[in-house]
Amino acid sequence: MSQPQPPRPHAPEAAGAAPNLDFEGTTPYEDYVRASVLSRLQEPLSDDPGEMAFLVTTQVMELWFTVLVHEWRTAGHALRRDDLEAALAALKRSAYELESLNASWKPIAHLTPGQFNAYRGALGEASGFQSATYRRLEFLLGEKSAAMLVPYRGAPRDGAELEKALHEPSLYDEVLRYLARLGHEIPRSVLDRDVSERYAADPGVERVWQRIYEGPRHGDACRLGESLTEVAELVWRWRNDHLVATRRAMGSKVGTGGSAGVAWLEKRAAKTVFPELWTARSHV
Ligand code: HEM
Repeated sequence: MSQPQPPRPHAPEAAGAAPNLDFEGTTPYEDYVRASVLSRLQEPLSDDPGEMAFLVTTQVMELWFTVLVHEWRTAGHALRRDDLEAALAALKRSAYELESLNASWKPIAHLTPGQFNAYRGALGEASGFQSATYRRLEFLLGEKSAAMLVPYRGAPRDGAELEKALHEPSLYDEVLRYLARLGHEIPRSVLDRDVSERYAADPGVERVWQRIYEGPRHGDACRLGESLTEVAELVWRWRNDHLVATRRAMGSKVGTGGSAGVAWLEKRAAKTVFPELWTARSHV
């Protein structure tokens, strides 16, 4: 780390002064952003000029996945402390971040099969399906699965983090526990559920959301419901944009990760995040 620089003068005569050019070591920007590390991580595997956009889009999305995991863990911890405002602030940030994540499909959303084929072979068996951070993100949304730990048997650090995340309450588990503490009648079976299992929609939880949305008395819980609905919608959009980009780029071929490709992704995209927040609306 370079030595911190003395504060720059704010006197009127300094107005319009050029930025500081003189640093003893690496620039403070580099020390903070680690740009030289980041910009050395782009190593396309083919000679095709289009692969760079595919690789960087994937890396950018990985970074957003990391941020989203951070936000949703922050929101979960805040709810555990009954700090609704901190939870809502994290969820709000995550909604903006999801919008940025979704906007980053643009450079690769319109690949023709020929354009994708130009580097697809070089990817070998690599697939986004193997993204450990995406899996953590899905776990936080309640989409738990012990089988999803299998790809990381040879990667102890990723495997251990995911194993821990599997046994931790999801964001939605924290939400339901919080609502129970506020006095809402979340069924005991939901509160005591094995959190390492995939969350399954529950009629009692649906009734709670229905009452929250019906009554003016539940303003805070309603704000929380709307924040989560926003997140759920934007996650659903990511899955669907992924599905459409895949359909355009490779039709119904099998995926590099070995799945049935589009047919498999269609099933994933059909899943609803925070299911009762959607079904309760039919009864309000
Ligand atoms: C046009 C480009 C893309 C195509 C054709 C494509 C194709 C596929 C396919 C076929 C699968 C199913 C698993 C398999 O057999 O491989 C998959 C899964 C996945 N892909 Fe992509 N993908 C593309 C871009 C991306 C990008 C940029 C990301 C960002 C990291 C990504 C992340 C994922 C994730 C996270 C999964 C697992 C989804 C789940 O578990 O529900 N994909 N992709």
